[in-house]
Amino acid sequence: MNNDPAQISVDALSVLYRRGGHTVRALDNVSLAIHGGEAVGIVGESGSGKTTMARVLTGLVSPTTGSARIEGRTIADWLRSDPMRFRRRVQMIFQDPYGSLNPRLTVRQTLAEALQVHRIVPRGAEGERIVELMRAVGLDPSYADRYPHEFSGGQRQRIGIARALAVDPAILIADEPVSALDVSVQAQVLNVLRDLHAARGLTLVLIAHDLAAVRYVCRRIIVMHRGRIVEEGTSDAICENPRDDYTRQLLAAVPSLGVQ
Ligand SMILES: Nc1ncnc2c1ncn2[C@@H]1O[C@H](COP(=O)(O)OP(=O)(O)OP(=O)(O)O)[C@@H](O)[C@H]1O
Ligand SMILES: [Mg+2]
Repeated sequence: MNNDPAQISVDALSVLYRRGGHTVRALDNVSLAIHGGEAVGIVGESGSGKTTMARVLTGLVSPTTGSARIEGRTIADWLRSDPMRFRRRVQMIFQDPYGSLNPRLTVRQTLAEALQVHRIVPRGAEGERIVELMRAVGLDPSYADRYPHEFSGGQRQRIGIARALAVDPAILIADEPVSALDVSVQAQVLNVLRDLHAARGLTLVLIAHDLAAVRYVCRRIIVMHRGRIVEEGTSDAICENPRDDYTRQLLAAVPSLGVQ
C-alpha cells in the first residue's frame, strides 16, 4: 500500500475496549484519508470515539480490526521498526495543558528535553531553537526559565504546542486543545494552531466538541457519532448545509467562541 497518496489512512478500523464484563465499541468500522498539509477537524459529542481515534493515530491504542497507516505504513509497523522516527513524525497536543507538562521543569528544560531526546540540535546548543519555538507560539522568550504553574492555562497550552513542534513533526494531532481553557483565550490558542498550519504546512487533526472552533481552523470536517463517521465534507458545506440529522443537532448546540 506504499502507493497510497494519503498521509494518514484509516481503513475499516474498529476499536473495542473491555470494561468489566462487557465490551465497548469505541470505533466501529471507520475509514478516512487525510493528505499531507491538510487541516481536518473531527467533531462529535462525548463518547463518540474522537480520543480513541487520536490514540490510534499516535500509537497509544492498537486497532482491534482494520488498520491505520501513516505514510503507507501501519502504525504497528512504525512502532516495531522505527519508533523514534514515528514519534518525530506524529506529535500530539493534549486537552489538559497542566497535566501534560512536567511541573518540575521550566519551559527551557521542557523544550530542551524534547530536543535532546530526538537529538535535534547538539547538546548545549538548544538556546536559539528554544527562543524560536517560544516565538512561534507567541510566548515571550524571556519567560523561558519559569515553571508551568507561573503561566495561565492558555500560555501553558502554548508551551505544550511548542514542545510538540520542537521535533519538527509532519503531523500534529490536537485532542480538545482548547476545551479546558477560558473562553476568552480559546480563540488565541486556535489562532496559534491555524498560523502554524499555514506557515509550516503541518498536517493538523483538530479534535473538538465545538464545530465553530473546528471551522475556524480547518477546511474539512469529519463528524463522528457513536464510533462511526456520519458525515464529512468541507467546513463550509458541513456548517451551512448539513445533510445528517446528528450534524444539525451539533450545529444547533454550538455555544460558539466568538471566533466566526
Ligand atoms: N480505556 C477505556 N476503557 C473502556 N472504555 C473506554 C476507554 N476509553 C474510552 N472508552 C469508551 O469508548 C467510547 C469512546 O470514548 P472516547 O474517549 O474515544 O470518546 P470521545 O469522543 O473522545 O469523548 P469526549 O468528547 O468525552 O472526550 C466511550 O464509550 C468511552 O466510554
Ligand atoms: Mg475525548
